[in-house]
Amino acid sequence: MIDLKSIPVTKEDLDRYEVENLFHSWSYQPAKSPMRVVSTKGTRFTNEEGRTFLDFSSCFVSHNIGHQDPRVLDALTEQAKKLCSFAPNFSTRPRATLAKMVAEITPGDLSRTFFCLSGTEANEAAIKICHQYTGRRKIISRYSSYHGGTSTSMTLSSGDPRSWAQVPGGVERLSVPLPYCYRCMFGQKYPECDLRCVTYIDQVIELEGGGDKVAGILFEPVTGANGIIVPPAEYFPRLREICDKWGVLMIADEVMTGFGRTGKWFAMDHWNVVPDIMTMAKGITAAYMPMGATVVRKHIGDRFKEQFFSHGATYAGHALACATAIRVVRIYQEDNLIENAAKMGKYLLEKALELKDKHPSVGDVRGLGLFVGLELVKNKKTREPLIPVAAKIRPESNPKVEVGKRLVELGMIAMAANPSNIVAMAPPLIITKGEIDEGIGIMDKALEVADAHAEK
Ligand SMILES: Cc1ncc(COP(=O)(O)O)c(C=O)c1O
Repeated sequence: MIDLKSIPVTKEDLDRYEVENLFHSWSYQPAKSPMRVVSTKGTRFTNEEGRTFLDFSSCFVSHNIGHQDPRVLDALTEQAKKLCSFAPNFSTRPRATLAKMVAEITPGDLSRTFFCLSGTEANEAAIKICHQYTGRRKIISRYSSYHGGTSTSMTLSSGDPRSWAQVPGGVERLSVPLPYCYRCMFGQKYPECDLRCVTYIDQVIELEGGGDKVAGILFEPVTGANGIIVPPAEYFPRLREICDKWGVLMIADEVMTGFGRTGKWFAMDHWNVVPDIMTMAKGITAAYMPMGATVVRKHIGDRFKEQFFSHGATYAGHALACATAIRVVRIYQEDNLIENAAKMGKYLLEKALELKDKHPSVGDVRGLGLFVGLELVKNKKTREPLIPVAAKIRPESNPKVEVGKRLVELGMIAMAANPSNIVAMAPPLIITKGEIDEGIGIMDKALEVADAHAEK
């Protein structure tokens, strides 16, 4: 073994460790090191060569309040000086305070929280709670969803190419279509369809054994990586009625959409529907510390006074993460960031619609708040996707990856390498009008790469 004090760390050494010693997520392992980021500030980040880029992705939709906010760094440091973490069977001030804050900002009587370290874990906990509460096994999820990388959460990510390599496990899954009006799986048109995608769920529950067998339905209120899909106004109220009819629990995965992303604290607030369980991560600490959370309604939480709660973790409610989250949540309120997301989101959508008029490769534009997607097509009339579904994660000849590379050359990152035909724009909630103009200008140029693959 070499002396660990003297591991060489020149640029070339680090590049080699990246390709020889690391696993990179969701990819063929690269032959070349990715760009190394050395510092960040606000909406920008800087690489090792000293070049600065605009972040139009909030780093997988997590850095909602922008990078390196000194108020968060102070809160984190103050907490670190007092108490970094303690065994979760004891109370700490940050964990108890944060639990109350989460109960205040979430809708209805969502009021008891289990804290963990990621969105994936938050969904695992949600499914375990759902199974334990209902005593049933079957969980409905929707095609083209992403709920996380572990066995159960990945099994429930049906239709996401990342799940194809996975051996199903942990849960008895039923898949149903999304309210994806641009490509309706029932071949219908809204509103004449009378929301066939919702009535279908009612029928699936009945055929699968009704309230005796089906435990819950897990969904992203606005589908993220798989297409920025915003359901129509009646969708969640109608789904709530169906779930109430069968006693099936509604589990809203707000990992991406929570904490102001869509212009309200939580996306479900747009529909005024209270889910039975809500999961969150990313925006809760705005990525300053790893954290996830699973929040349940009062009657579900109360059940576990009588019934053993069979879940836990060493870092459940880590004090540094909780103190960070408390400061971040206050910043959303102090700086009116959720209002800014609503206002700037409208502007971003307007500008994105102008791109649709201009580019033959942009078939559809949709979004809610600062969560806007451009769906890339080969042919606007036929809506033929730019990349066939089965080819999405192959490295060769993927025009969307080329768009992502072009964006970087031009000085910006967006969510261009996710598993759909969507290029998503999700800048931090502190974004200004001027920065949106700058980002849209760059996107306008980068889309020429996709246009070259589209029929004019
Ligand atoms: C909707 C949704 N759920 C769950 C997850 C998993 O979260 P994490 O990567 O923190 O485990 C993600 C990640 O992007 C997500 O978008």
